[in-house]
Amino acid sequence: MNTAQRHEYLAALGLETWVIRGKPASTLSSTIASTVASTMTSTVASTMEPPPASISPSTMTPLPPGAAREAGVDWPELRARVAACTRCALSATRTQTVFGVGNQQAEWLIVGEAPGAEEDRQGEPFVGRAGQLLNSMLRAIGLPREQVFIANVLKCRPPGNRDPASGEAAECLPYLEQQIALLKPKIMLAVGRIAAQNLLRTDMTLGRLRQQVHRFGGSQVPLVVTYHPAYLLRTPGDKRKAWEDLKFAREVCANV
Ligand code: URA
Repeated sequence: MNTAQRHEYLAALGLETWVIRGKPASTLSSTIASTVASTMTSTVASTMEPPPASISPSTMTPLPPGAAREAGVDWPELRARVAACTRCALSATRTQTVFGVGNQQAEWLIVGEAPGAEEDRQGEPFVGRAGQLLNSMLRAIGLPREQVFIANVLKCRPPGNRDPASGEAAECLPYLEQQIALLKPKIMLAVGRIAAQNLLRTDMTLGRLRQQVHRFGGSQVPLVVTYHPAYLLRTPGDKRKAWEDLKFAREVCANV
């Protein structure tokens, strides 16, 4: 990416300059490389900012039985099963399911919460204003939307954009599990508290979950947490922290 493009994308994020805080990039790389290599099952604290209290894996409940319900299913069959799903009451109020979109060879899997009104209408995740900001955030780290895979914890829109109920998330998670099994991403980026808490099965705050390398479920894919773009639209002052999270995730991915 050339300098002009980078400035354009950073401006979209509300950031005018490319500033790496804390340790220089080379130190950061080697620190993350060694922590990723040495912690295959636990979360590790990053060194980019004052580390939040480190999270012990024991605070995260194992995935519920049934998480492997769709195991072995290929992409077309999985898509068909999602489209026909009536496992929870959201099937009665959705316009259509939102399976996910992107490159099936993607190294990055972005996971949001659930479709909103526009996503429910178009059948694609992150197509509204929050989606435009997400696209800018990804481009700022050199990832066009077409290069990643984007999905949600829930495949159907909760009416009025309410938070997903725990039963809804539990019924829907096996679809995402199988998407992960097929995709084999190098890294997952959970955007927003709801996605992060459901994926990591914790009630910790986003502030404590970000800037750490977590591992997702049985696949143990490295997972990094950042702010939801809809939150960033309401709270632009936190865009800089999101930018730090994205750079952190990029370093993690480079060292997997
Ligand atoms: N918010 C999400 O979490 N996912 C979408 O697809 C759209 C908005």
